Amino acid sequence: MNGVWHAPGRVNLIGEHTDYNEGLVLPFALPQGITVEGEQRDDGLLELHSGGLREVVELAGLAPGKVRGWAAYPAGVAGALTEAGYLVGGATLRFTSDLPSGSGLSSSAALECATALALTDLYGVKADRRDLVRVAQRAENAYAGVPSGILDQSASLLCEADHALLLDCRTGMSSRVPLNLGDHRVLIVDTGVRHALEDGRYADRRAECEEAARRLGVPALRDVKDLAASLSLLTDPVLRRRVQHVVTENHRVEATVGLLRAGAAADVGAMLTASHLSLRDLYQVSWPQADVAVEAAVKGRARGGRMVGGGFGGSVIVLAHRDALPAVRESIDAAYAAHGWSAPSYLEAVPSRGAARLS
Ligand code: GLA
Repeated sequence: MNGVWHAPGRVNLIGEHTDYNEGLVLPFALPQGITVEGEQRDDGLLELHSGGLREVVELAGLAPGKVRGWAAYPAGVAGALTEAGYLVGGATLRFTSDLPSGSGLSSSAALECATALALTDLYGVKADRRDLVRVAQRAENAYAGVPSGILDQSASLLCEADHALLLDCRTGMSSRVPLNLGDHRVLIVDTGVRHALEDGRYADRRAECEEAARRLGVPALRDVKDLAASLSLLTDPVLRRRVQHVVTENHRVEATVGLLRAGAAADVGAMLTASHLSLRDLYQVSWPQADVAVEAAVKGRARGGRMVGGGFGGSVIVLAHRDALPAVRESIDAAYAAHGWSAPSYLEAVPSRGAARLS
């Protein structure tokens, strides 16, 4: 038994650092992602190939902490599938990617989701996609040691072409939101700065949010309804900033969905920029190249823009009328040159379908 599967990367239109606060996110899948060619094998081994690298992992006794490096992601999926009661066996998996890793476009979630589809299909295991989201997240949290939320895996497995996915990260309920962008386009600007969620700053933000929720006596920051009253209860300036970001970001997701449904896509730009400023000043996860890209894009007549993903490196998205795209790129290139930075790379973000079997 063999086959080929593909799991996409994503951009999150809006709703950043809200997932682990049990809030709202609005991602869409990209055409780019991870493709895996898989073949069953009966010796209980997982043989993993990627870009000239080869790792062999024994499935028996697989547990968090046993496998390190990139192989921890696919091996973690095999481990998490078994833990969840899905009986899969050995396989040879050959991965290829057209998604730059560390670019904030979720290459690790794509790796997990491609593996989850391949292993379940190879072994004829029927699994609900929402369960696979949890399996992939468990692989990332426990096996790869990254305390991420549910955003990236949900986007990779649940998105549909031409739509964004409105996901309530508390209930797991989702709905599709048509991305009627009209003459507008979403441009990805890969700032070239590489990030790693494992470096601890992501975990720090998460811990700060949990601490703020504890001090406010709510299960999660999702539950903060009266921002002014909550801020008056918090004295720590850092925690106050984190709460302000999370609460306002959830409102921006709702506003964005309303604007998209009303056919007012251009006005989503203002939400993106507001999200960026909040991530820069309140959540403090932005980085200089992202700030400069957003500012230069808006100067070049973009409707708005924001950093995407965990932060500290990766990509920015920009919403602009298609006729304004050359001016937006020129403006960003010029601003980068003025800082002595090499030009970023650009990619149009085309809302695409979620993970699927190709053959
Ligand atoms: C990373 C994580 C996600 C989410 C974002 C920030 O991409 O993997 O779970 O927390 O950061 O929104």
